[in-house]
Amino acid sequence: MVQATPVLLVLFLALGAPSLAAKKCILSGRWVNDLGSNMTIEAVNENGDFAGSYHTAVTATTNEIKVSPLQGSMQKSRNQKGQPTFGFTVNWSFSDSITVFTGQCFVDNSGKEVLRTMWLLRSRVENIGSDWKATRVGTNIFTRLQLQE
Ligand code: BTN
Repeated sequence: MVQATPVLLVLFLALGAPSLAAKKCILSGRWVNDLGSNMTIEAVNENGDFAGSYHTAVTATTNEIKVSPLQGSMQKSRNQKGQPTFGFTVNWSFSDSITVFTGQCFVDNSGKEVLRTMWLLRSRVENIGSDWKATRVGTNIFTRLQLQE
């Protein structure tokens, strides 16, 4: 007679055990934020470096919005536990400004990946007397862009 316990154990290991491993948050892919901006992050290399592109939905200028390049870095320490910290810079191709983002890639309570970020947008000003008003600060929440079927 086949014993139930080993059979169940095999079934558990084959089906159940892998899903018990905590889901990791992966930076690569397409993301959309709470402003409707779209971002693509290409592959993250072995040093944690990555490149990508950013299509902002809004601008502080009157210029026509264009897709802009981004360069970033992800923390690779063993402490990250599948929810890594990262930073990236967007060098706007249609304005004189630069934005730096910093944040963490989380898996939320429903298992969905989310990027919680803060940013600093530095605008160019004409002279040092205007430096005080040159930097905006804010937050953005990114969720993975779902492909339409
Ligand atoms: C500019 O206006 O000079 C460049 C575009 C800035 C867009 C900002 S960056 C922070 C915030 N998050 C976005 O997705 N867009 C705005």
